[in-house]
Amino acid sequence: NSSAAENIVWHAASVTKPDRHRLNRHKSCVLWFTGLSGSGKSTLANAVQTKLHELEKRSYVLDGDNIRHGLSKGLGFSAEDRRENIRRIGEVAKLFVDAGIITLTAFISPYREDRNLARGLLEPGEFIEIYVKCPLEECERRDPKGLYQKARNGEISEFTGISSPYEEPLAPDIVIDSSRKSVEESVELVISYLYDSSLI
Ligand code: PPS
Repeated sequence: NSSAAENIVWHAASVTKPDRHRLNRHKSCVLWFTGLSGSGKSTLANAVQTKLHELEKRSYVLDGDNIRHGLSKGLGFSAEDRRENIRRIGEVAKLFVDAGIITLTAFISPYREDRNLARGLLEPGEFIEIYVKCPLEECERRDPKGLYQKARNGEISEFTGISSPYEEPLAPDIVIDSSRKSVEESVELVISYLYDSSLI
C-alpha cells in the first residue's frame, strides 16, 4: 500500500519565475514585517504596497484579516498555533513569490525560529526581514484595538509583550523605528532597499 504522497509527481513548470520577472520587469521577494501588536506593521505594509503600485510593481499584502479568518481560521495564540500560522504564511508567501509578486506579510511572528523557518522556504535574498521596532509602552499607549487593556486585565491570555514573548530579530535586513519615523520616511527606506538590491 503506497501512500498518496508517493504517487504525487512534480511537474516542471513551463513558465518559470525568471520568465515572470522578465514579464513584470521586476523581481519578486517577501517583505516580512515583524513586531509587537500596535507597532504599525499593517499600516506600513499597506503604505509600501500603495507606493509599489504607483511605481507599477506587482505586490500583495498578507495580513491578519485575510489569513486568520481564512487560511489560519481556528488557530489561536499558543506557541504551537503561532508556529503553524507562520508556517502556512511562509508557504503561501513562497507561492506568491514564485508567481512573481512582491509579497508583504504583516504578522507579529514573535519567535525567531519560526521566522527562520519561513526564511528557509525562500531562496537567498528573497526573504527581507523588516523589524518594526516600537517600545511596548508606546504600543500600549496606542492600543488601537483595546487588546493591551484586556491583556492587563487578564481577559486575554498569552498576549504578546504582556504574557507571551516577543523575540527581537538579531539581524533584520531593515529596522523601522515606528515611534520616531513617519510612515512616508519608512516607506522610502523600504523602497530604497528594493532599488539598492536590484529587486525593482
Ligand atoms: S502571530 O503571533 O504572528 O501568529 O500573530 P498574528 O497572526 O500576527 O495575529 C496578531 C493579531 O491578533 C490579535 N490578537 C493577539 N495578538 C497577540 N497575542 C494574543 N494573545 C492575541 N489575541 C488576539 C491582535 O489584534 C494582533 O493584531 P496586530 O495587527 O498585530 O495588532
